[in-house]
Amino acid sequence: MIHRNFLDLKNANKKDSKLLFDWSNDKLARNNSLSNKKILINDHNKWFNSELLNKNSYIWICIINNNPCGLIRFKKKNNRYTLSYLISPAYRGNNYSKPMIQLAINKFKSHKPRVKNIYAQVLTNNNLSIKILKSLGFKFKSISKNGLVHLLYFALKNK
Ligand SMILES: CC(C)(COP(=O)(O)OP(=O)(O)OC[C@H]1O[C@@H](n2cnc3c(N)ncnc32)[C@H](O)[C@@H]1OP(=O)(O)O)[C@@H](O)C(=O)NCCC(=O)NCCS
Repeated sequence: MIHRNFLDLKNANKKDSKLLFDWSNDKLARNNSLSNKKILINDHNKWFNSELLNKNSYIWICIINNNPCGLIRFKKKNNRYTLSYLISPAYRGNNYSKPMIQLAINKFKSHKPRVKNIYAQVLTNNNLSIKILKSLGFKFKSISKNGLVHLLYFALKNK
């Protein structure tokens, strides 16, 4: 059992661009995204620079023993915050995902105490993520035509 304090979160910055590029192009991450296409470096740089400037976007890197092991994003769109995440290939299978996401939810709640709900969207065949999110308290909301399961977390509970 990993103690939560073991993991930490830091804000992503420009220096993390290449790391995030590599993680985003990892096969599992691409397979679990709506677009499976390989991301091109120019597109990534454009996207990342604009995300860093976007006040409605939080990008955090999860750190363990001084090493980056995962990524958390909260992005506001259409008035709702959507969570997405990954554990880097080298660190998968160590039960880091749940404590990382829980840590991120707690941090997000302290940044945005008035936000009522956190959304997550995962592909219907991403059973692992559906299981992880449900165990953290996310509730099934709907499935859309494009094959996404929509889940919802009530952020104001346990306050
Ligand atoms: C989803 C993801 C974050 C999970 O991280 P992980 O390091 O692989 O998984 P963990 O080691 O934290 O395990 C979490 C749970 O899944 C189970 N699990 C992990 N790998 C598994 C596998 N291959 N098969 C079945 N169960 C598995 C673990 O046993 C654990 O369950 P438990 O708490 O009931 O024991 C990771 O696979 C990933 O980065 N995927 C690509 C990105 C993605 O899909 N993001 C979600 C959409 S936003």
